[in-house]
Amino acid sequence: RNVSLIKLPFGAGQKKAGVEEAPEYIMNSGVDKDLKKLGYNVEVVDVPELKKAPAEEGPSSKQLYRPLYVSTACQRAKNVIAGELSKGSAVVNIGGDHSLGIATVSAVQEVHPTSCLLWIDAHADINTPDSSPSGNLHGCPVSLVLGYAKPVPPEFEWVKTCIDSGRVAYIGLRDVDPGERMLLRQHNIPFFTMHHVDKYGIGRVVEMAMAAINPDNLRPTHLSVDVDSVDPSIVPATGTRVKGGLTFREIMYICEAVAETRTLVALDVVEVNPLLSDKEGCESTISVARSVIRTSFGLQLV
Ligand code: ARG
Ligand code: MN
Ligand code: MN
Ligand code: MN
Repeated sequence: RNVSLIKLPFGAGQKKAGVEEAPEYIMNSGVDKDLKKLGYNVEVVDVPELKKAPAEEGPSSKQLYRPLYVSTACQRAKNVIAGELSKGSAVVNIGGDHSLGIATVSAVQEVHPTSCLLWIDAHADINTPDSSPSGNLHGCPVSLVLGYAKPVPPEFEWVKTCIDSGRVAYIGLRDVDPGERMLLRQHNIPFFTMHHVDKYGIGRVVEMAMAAINPDNLRPTHLSVDVDSVDPSIVPATGTRVKGGLTFREIMYICEAVAETRTLVALDVVEVNPLLSDKEGCESTISVARSVIRTSFGLQLV
């Protein structure tokens, strides 16, 4: 089995510098060796051009922050990811901020059109350009791939409505904006907040989420992990921290359960920002990111 580790140094989906440096840090932690030890053939793919902004941003549609840059970068990232998936490889998309979800979901759905999407996040990232309180596109990727952004900003006309609400589920939510809440309810998207994790336990929550989007375990799985889903006490190096997140065991349990299905085709690890914490906090955050990768690909406890 081949796995491509794809470095996506991109951060213009939000306004804090540093998230574009994360792929370098995460790679240097030894994720390639981890996957080789597990028996995979590993290829490392870098997309360094994502760091370069287009010369001009142009008149910005709505109040969005750098839509042209985000669109250009996501289009490029999508082509690279789809290329790797087309060879039959699984991919690890190492971000970068979560606006890259526009690229990862578009690519995965193009190559594996029946796949389901498990979005692990403190946030729903389903704002439309109109409902976004910040203008940051890392809060909007899910609405773009579901086709809820109407009208679609001209920069994003290339993004296809490529997944339906029945194949998307969330775990970890605890900071959802009013417009997002409306969309989640209106479209009946299965979501499990931290309240649900407390109430049912992570085992039941993962079981319910998977039963909703992959009932017969026949669909390929795309796992999108925003590290801010995890509690800031162990993941402080991220741009939008929210208290009361997943514990280390809870995020590991999610990864183990996905590994057990043997359906994983794509994993995103996004929103690590090594510049937003001290050395210790940074190391803790990166070690969680590294553990997410090796555990999702089958590292066993015993
Ligand atoms: N809901 C907020 C917004 O739209 C925060 C989004 C945070 N997203 C993330 N990928 N960390 O601005
Ligand atoms: Mn988030
Ligand atoms: Mn908020
Ligand atoms: Mn996110």
